[in-house]
Amino acid sequence: MSLRLGDIAPDFTALTTEGEIRFHEYLGESWGILFSHPADYTPVCTTELGRTAALQEEFRKRNVKVLAVSVDPLDKHLGWVTDINETQGCRVDFPIIADEDRKVAGLYDMIHPNASETFTVRSLFIIGPDKKVKLMITYPASTGRNFNEVLRVIDSLQLTAGYSVATPADWKEGEDVIVVPAVSTEDAIRRFPKGIKVVKPYLRYTPQPDK
Ligand code: BEZ
Repeated sequence: MSLRLGDIAPDFTALTTEGEIRFHEYLGESWGILFSHPADYTPVCTTELGRTAALQEEFRKRNVKVLAVSVDPLDKHLGWVTDINETQGCRVDFPIIADEDRKVAGLYDMIHPNASETFTVRSLFIIGPDKKVKLMITYPASTGRNFNEVLRVIDSLQLTAGYSVATPADWKEGEDVIVVPAVSTEDAIRRFPKGIKVVKPYLRYTPQPDK
């Protein structure tokens, strides 16, 4: 059965551009992003890995470790990284798994045979410090992902892990958040001293509590 939100992210040992990695051990107490791309030396993938490298400081600030994966071999990854650094003006310093035997792709259901029999699609998993899957997205090969959106989701996940709030559509760090339905308005007034705006009994906003 395929993975679902809240499941423990399957552990594995894999060969990567940074040596052998045991996934759970590598993550330690950090959050994690595991994302697949179809193939090395392809244009969209080159921009995606370059963008991820350019955002590494943003991921570090949020205590997130990044790990990429495709079914290409290690020597191909290593050669391609040189190209990514050159063309995208970055330094790829996160590991890329060489999943030649498709072990990781199988565990995370990254090969969708009706899209491609051989290549991994653009899957992305966000994993919490408890090793549970917090988010899964799947894009086709033809569409590069929006890594600003990935950062935005991490901000939401980290905030909502600590407070009884949820984030509305298009929310960005610093904007008002929503009080979850399980908290009564009376309780919310106590919990959120910055104030509550009641639009409807089920739609209540409060300023971002950790700001
Ligand atoms: C790309 O990364 O550019 C790509 C990979 C596989 C199919 C289509 C595009």
